Amino acid sequence: MNTAPLQGIKVIDFTSVQSGPSCTQLLAWLGAEVIKIERPGTGDATRKELQFDPNEPSYYFLQLNSDKKSLALDAATPDGKEILTRLIKTADIFVENLHPGAMDKLGFSWEAVHQLNPRCIYGTIKGFPESSRFKDLKAYEPIAQVTAAAATTTGWYSGPDNIPTQSGAALGDSNTGMHLTIGLLAALAQREKTGEGCYVYQSMHNACLNLCRIKTRDQLTLDRIGYLTQYPQYPNEKFPDYVPRSGNTEGSGVLGWTYKCKGWETDPNAYAYIILQRGVKDFEKACQAFGFEDWLTNPDFNTADARDRHKDEIIDRIGKWAITRDKYDIVKELAPYGVPCAPVINTRELLNDESLYDGNTLVRINQGGNIGEFVTVGVPFTMSNYQPTYGPCPTLGGNTDEVLAAYGFTADEIARFKTNGTTAPMPKPAAGK
Ligand SMILES: CC(C)(COP(=O)(O)OP(=O)(O)OC[C@H]1O[C@@H](n2cnc3c(N)ncnc32)[C@H](O)[C@@H]1OP(=O)(O)O)[C@@H](O)C(=O)NCCC(=O)NCCS
Repeated sequence: MNTAPLQGIKVIDFTSVQSGPSCTQLLAWLGAEVIKIERPGTGDATRKELQFDPNEPSYYFLQLNSDKKSLALDAATPDGKEILTRLIKTADIFVENLHPGAMDKLGFSWEAVHQLNPRCIYGTIKGFPESSRFKDLKAYEPIAQVTAAAATTTGWYSGPDNIPTQSGAALGDSNTGMHLTIGLLAALAQREKTGEGCYVYQSMHNACLNLCRIKTRDQLTLDRIGYLTQYPQYPNEKFPDYVPRSGNTEGSGVLGWTYKCKGWETDPNAYAYIILQRGVKDFEKACQAFGFEDWLTNPDFNTADARDRHKDEIIDRIGKWAITRDKYDIVKELAPYGVPCAPVINTRELLNDESLYDGNTLVRINQGGNIGEFVTVGVPFTMSNYQPTYGPCPTLGGNTDEVLAAYGFTADEIARFKTNGTTAPMPKPAAGK
């Protein structure tokens, strides 16, 4: 049995860029039929963003739109509106992430869609919660990171690099898509009980903030006691009244740091992350692993609280130990003692790790044509009774005729839509006319 959880679920996907498409791609991989609405002639902006070949869709597009159908449709034309209306009438989910107000202007707001089909769930992504003073702003990734305190708490805490810093992880984009997916799946489960679809509003700000809750925890602690023991600034520096950047410290109470390893002179990623846990037994074993048994009887180090006060000396000594070793060898040496540690992995090492091609973590998709095979990140969880399959991305409007026919439009109508600007760009007037 390989029953797709969302088999039979129809999704009208009016999303573009990354946040919305990451959600609808996951829905497709879970078995939903996803019809991606794209503007005739241009389509999703990412088709032509960061291209490796001017004639092919970019990896950006390819990594976010596999297993969808593409319907080229100008939803602003009368025929376009009629087509979209027909699609919505039998849809289970409608998802959009246009700029604030754009869907209302096109005539497909939540209220309008709900009236057309009360069972249809409506998912929307915007930059900010509806209550926010920023709610009308357009949003891209960094907009979410800078307003959810992700940027002010990321990066270095002293010197010229002490500036708000972007995470390389897409906290505002793909993360928002994953959050919306949770909301949509909850709405589907709710519809089982109520028979009615609901409005799922997901802001990039909420999704990013949801991953920054430990920084709000730190603010609450700072407000109470004025310092944060796990931060590198403790105990030697005065804390500001907001949470400062903490470099590479671990986010919880354990003492973690990124240590330079052998080969750092030529490899800027020759680092390993090593953590000292707070428990007595864990610390004893770590001391054995490093050969630092003297710490066990030294009051500056033999309690977790003392270690917080002496973290500079700890980082310095482990640093001298680590720099003589290869980052992978460190893991081999420390892991048998139960010390949490890992090599710092760059993108090339990651994509070359064959152990990750397990059918989900990293997947190879055969797009065919000039593109051939490309790698993407698969469904980020596994299910004991369902293995997704991973297929190619659609060409712009590649499924238009098929989708329109399936929704009952005649061959004549389909031909007309191509000439009146509904499913193909309007033909340019001949020269001199
Ligand atoms: C990403 C974003 C900043 C891009 O803004 P944008 O360049 O104005 O592009 P949009 O796709 O939103 O809309 C552009 C126009 O195309 C129109 N359009 C898009 N697809 C269409 C279609 N198939 N048919 C007709 N019109 C269409 C929109 O209605 C809009 O028209 P308007 O400006 O006259 O209202 C904006 O969509 C946004 O803030 N979205 C919400 C947050 C989000 O998801 N951000 C992306 C993170 S990866």
